[in-house]
Formats: sequence, structure tokens, C-alpha cells
Amino acid sequence: VTLGVDLGTSGVKVVALDVHRRTVASVTRPYPLSTPRAGWTEQDPHDWVQGTLAALTAVAAQLREQGQTPVALGLSGQMHGAVFLGAQGEVIRPAPLWNDQRTGQDVAEIEARIPRSELIARTGNRAVTGFQLPKILWLRREEPGAFARLRHVLLPKDYLGLVLTGQMITEPSDASGVGALHLARKEWDTDVLGALDLSPALFPSVVNSWEVAGHLKGPLAAQTGLPLGLPVVAGAGDNAAAGVALGLGSARPEVGSLSLGTSGVLFAPLAQPTPDPEGRVHLFAHADGGYHLLGVTLSCAGALQWLRDRLFPEVDFERLLREAEQVQAGGESPVFLPYLAGERSPHMNPALRGVWTGLSLAHGRGHLTRALLEGTAFALADVQDVMVGLSSVRSVLATGGGARSDLWLGLMAHTLGLDVHRPPHVPGPAQGAALLAMPAAGFFPDLTAALPPLGLTGMAGVTPVEPLASRAQYATVFGQVYGSGPAVP
Ligand code: XUL
Repeated sequence: VTLGVDLGTSGVKVVALDVHRRTVASVTRPYPLSTPRAGWTEQDPHDWVQGTLAALTAVAAQLREQGQTPVALGLSGQMHGAVFLGAQGEVIRPAPLWNDQRTGQDVAEIEARIPRSELIARTGNRAVTGFQLPKILWLRREEPGAFARLRHVLLPKDYLGLVLTGQMITEPSDASGVGALHLARKEWDTDVLGALDLSPALFPSVVNSWEVAGHLKGPLAAQTGLPLGLPVVAGAGDNAAAGVALGLGSARPEVGSLSLGTSGVLFAPLAQPTPDPEGRVHLFAHADGGYHLLGVTLSCAGALQWLRDRLFPEVDFERLLREAEQVQAGGESPVFLPYLAGERSPHMNPALRGVWTGLSLAHGRGHLTRALLEGTAFALADVQDVMVGLSSVRSVLATGGGARSDLWLGLMAHTLGLDVHRPPHVPGPAQGAALLAMPAAGFFPDLTAALPPLGLTGMAGVTPVEPLASRAQYATVFGQVYGSGPAVP
């Protein structure tokens, strides 16, 4: 078997996959997240290490019982976080995460020093508050004492790689989420770093996602019960790893994925890098040597969770969704803008906020829920409007908790204009990381062979459902609240 680690935001997941890509062991361990100030999110990297070692120990025990031996381990995890390390590799302060919003001033600093179009041409992305690069500028500006000690900055899963193997290594899919990787060369962009007075020596060397980054250290092998010297493969950021697990690759750029999780994510594999000239969606390296676009809306199933928890805690999700289904067209439908946490794609504006409008005495809980579902679909349609000119995706595999709802997926299929398929089972980033370790394990000659077949024909297709409100209504409300509406095709 190969092992895959997904260092998530709420916890770590470790899985073992056999040569037939079947998951034969799986363990998760939670860890805390702290929000020391509004807009800040941090984790203690030591919690990641403890959780991961505990999960690896539990999986090793399960495998021993089954008579299985792990032959390689792949890493994946939350992107964009900054693990700040001193000269001895010691953690200097808690790590700000991908959803941390403290770097507004630092993003402005990057944009003042490097024209946006040039940054996009080099790195594929504009400066984004969540990315790692502005976090380093924040440290220099706000905590100069800590910055003076800083010798290395690692992404979350790469820090785990350092602990496991003693090697500081990264790979292109996660590294392209730093904001300073030259995307065509897949090397750190020394001109971008130079313009910001940052040394390239802060960053780890970049190898391919499927390459061995190091070998499991003796004491950790003894502690976990895993084989001494187990090869640890560089792996991928969680979105690229999830893409690998679904079989999405640059050889099949017509098929992408749509995840209805806390946030909504559209993933589009690409053979060639095609950045959005305005940087409204992210362009990252994919783990298979190609590229992918990523559009992230910050409130998707998270918005429904908020509605239930804060407004209607007495009802369950099934009831809310049933009521939304029963809402009849006719009369004015309410419109919801879902920017409860600001917005990333396509607006890239942490200051946006949510709105319901068009309410009348005739409206009740079902209308509010229905408008919320429609609003999350319209928000993803704004992302798809940007992506459609840059990618050739026509079909998406639906994942995430929200994908269990026929109504929600049907609204997405209609609003996005995409064929939506529901896979029979949905593997995640941990499975993707284990697949990335398979070439090193000798199970497949290369990563392309290790990717699972898409088998679209065997999946349930989703019937599009027409929303009660229209995109024109949604765009008008956006325009009334924020000045100018997103263009409606
Ligand atoms: C991607 C992003 C998130 C994190 C979550 O740009 O910020 O999907 O990777 O783990």
C-alpha cells in the first residue's frame, strides 16, 4: 500500500491505498484553530505534527493487522499558510492560514512595487490576502524581532515533510500558491522576490509532485511503527491532490470538478497555463506537470450551515432543503448575495457582505433557503464566466457535502451551464496524495498511469433546475449594493 496525508484545516487525515487504488485504512485526528483577532486564523504547527504522528501510528497498526506494508507516503494539505522557521528549523510563531485576512496592507505593498499585469504574467496570479507571500511582508512589518530570526518559510504540508524527513522541499502545485513562483519555469521568481527585498534562500527547493522528497527518519519510524527510511513523496496542495484523486488531469482538460463545501470551488485542469489577465481566478501548477484554474467562492455550503445554525437551529438540513424545493415560482423571488465572509473569486474583495433583498409578507423560511442556494449558484456562475474563456471544461464531477442535494446540484448545472456528474464515491486529497506516491512505490510506471479512470458514463448525471430568481436580478442587486454588477451573459 501507499499512504496519503491530508493536512486539513480542521484536522489531518491519513489513508492507505492498495495497488487497485482501494482505500484499505483511514484515520483522522482533529486539531484546534485560533482566531486571536478578527480576520486572523492561525494554527500551531506542533499540533499538526502531533496529530499526524498519531494518525500515522493508528494507520500503521491497522495495516499490521491486515498484513500490509506501506512502501511510500505522499503529502497534501491546506495551501498558502506560512510556517516561519529560525536557523535550527524551529517554529518562530503560530502559522497564519489560507483564510487569514490580515495582509491587506501587504497586498497593497506588493501591488505598489510590482505592476499587477507583470505579477500575473510571471506567477499566474495577482497578489491575494490569503497567499503566503504577503504573510512574509506582514511579519517583517509587524513583528520585526521575529523577522530578524527568520531563515526559512515553508507551506504547511512541506513543514510536515521537514519533520518527517529532515529535508526542506516543495513542489509546484502548492508552491504556485505562495505568489512568487515563476509559473512557466516552476522556480522561485528572483525578480519578484528582489522587488520585495526578500531572499530566495528563504524558500525550499522545488521538485515534481511525484518525486521522493526524503525518507522517514529513524526515531519517527520507531515511534509510528512505519518502515525506517519510508520514501516520502513531495505531493500536492489539497485542491490539486483532490483533482488527482478524481482522475482530473491536464490530458483531459474537458472534465473539472465543482465542490460544494464550506467554500465553493471550481477546478479546471489545463494543458497550457492561461491566466486571467485580471487575476479574478487563480492559476496554479497541477500535480501532473500541467496546470489548473481554481475559482473559490468563500460562502457555499458554509452559507447554508450559517442559515441553519444562526437562524433556524431547530430544523435539520433535509427539512430546509425540502422546503426550498417546494417553493413555487411566481411573484417576486427574494435574492441573496452570499458574501458572508467577503469574496475571493471573482471579486477578490474581503470587504463584501451578504444581503437578502426583495422580501415580502408572502416569503418564509423556504424562500430564504431557496434564495440562499440560488445566490451561491449565481456567485459560482460569476466565477464560471471568467473561467469559460480560459478553460475547456464542459463537465464537472460534484463533490463536497452540498453535492448530496439534487436541488442544489440542479441549480448549479443550470446556472453554470455545465454538465454535472455525481461520482459514486468521492475520494479526497488524502487519496490523491497516496496516488502521487504510487510511481515512487513502483505500482505504476508514472503518474498518468496511476490516475483513476474518469468513467463519466457510469456516473449519475444531474438534471438542471431553473432558479426562481434570475441572474439579471442578482446582478442588479449586486449593482445596487456595490456600485456595478457582474456582467450577465
Ligand atoms: C485554495 C485555498 C483552499 C485551501 C483549503 O486556494 O485557499 O482551498 O487550500 O485547504
